[in-house]
Amino acid sequence: MAHKQREAYLAANLIFKDDRISWVHNGETYQVMMGWEQPIMAKMAEVCVSAGDKVLECGFGMGILSDEIQARNPGHHTIVECHPEIIVKAKAWAADKTNVTIVEGDWLDLINAPGRFNAILMDTYVDNNLHKRFTWFCRNKGEHNCKVSWWNWTGKTTGAYMMLHWTDVTFTKVEGLNAPENDYYNRNDYYVPLKVLSRTPTTYGVLLSSNINLSQTETVHIKKVYGNTKLLTCADPGNPSLEIKDVAGESVMFKCKGVYSINDGLLVMTGTNNMIVKRDGSWINKKMNEIVVGDKLYKADNTEVEITKIEFDSSETVHNMFKVNIDSNYFVNNILIRKGQDNA
Ligand SMILES: C[S@@+](CC[C@H](N)C(=O)[O-])C[C@H]1O[C@@H](n2cnc3c(N)ncnc32)[C@H](O)[C@@H]1O
Repeated sequence: MAHKQREAYLAANLIFKDDRISWVHNGETYQVMMGWEQPIMAKMAEVCVSAGDKVLECGFGMGILSDEIQARNPGHHTIVECHPEIIVKAKAWAADKTNVTIVEGDWLDLINAPGRFNAILMDTYVDNNLHKRFTWFCRNKGEHNCKVSWWNWTGKTTGAYMMLHWTDVTFTKVEGLNAPENDYYNRNDYYVPLKVLSRTPTTYGVLLSSNINLSQTETVHIKKVYGNTKLLTCADPGNPSLEIKDVAGESVMFKCKGVYSINDGLLVMTGTNNMIVKRDGSWINKKMNEIVVGDKLYKADNTEVEITKIEFDSSETVHNMFKVNIDSNYFVNNILIRKGQDNA
């Protein structure tokens, strides 16, 4: 049914009433959205959206969820909607709101657009891509700790739908729904799902640039000799004293799923990599997946570089890296990296 029904839906003239949106297909009437879902939408916004969040909402429908999201003062609210008649309604609704962007089309198309979100709320209709692509989409478009919720067809807490792809989903109960008869949901209670997506670090601590890209790295600071490498070290960037150390090294290839890139490739590394960053005026130890835009890195010329961009690529890639055994902090591409067993 899926493709044909979707084409028919996108071409259909919808019927808009105060308490529902519906359409007629092959003589049957189908509901797209109904007003009785209001308590569900309210709870969905409550569990997902905090003030200041960058929110992505997929499917505008009657705008009930959109109102609930707005009531929570998001920093920005992107709504993606594909039906031409509903796009018109969404634009009218957004006209007096400065923090809303209406995107016309399919949510999946946003995969190539810049930007990530702190909350992703999914409530679409006759959507062919949902099950196959949604988890992948969220991993690519979610910030660390992005809150994700979606329409839970079963209404229950076990077994079906996105649960097949995600563990650690929590549910919040909504009771007393009193839904009028309809063709999609007739339970009196409902469980709103919530998945908090952490950007799970891999067990590897590779620094891609630590391959070490020796040609790019100033040889004054790092000099490789076969089987042996000299690395510039610095114990404490707050009280810098630079020293050249001999380290043993080996070249290894391995698969790695998920790497972070700082400032357009200045450093590329996995989430567990040990970092040393300046935050609120102090040098602190953090894992790569804990650092944030605004943190500063220490450079070998005793200056600092501010992190202005952190990107995450979740795809699986093969890396060829130069692995060093070092018990000191060291520099990669002139940036100080904290020593640690899971660094390489
Ligand atoms: C159930 S309604 C959403 C109801 C909404 N949560 C509310 O509170 O009123 C589903 C909406 O998703 C839209 N939609 C369906 N597939 C979509 C897709 N792939 N991308 C964007 N919007 C989609 C439909 O046109 C419809 O407006």
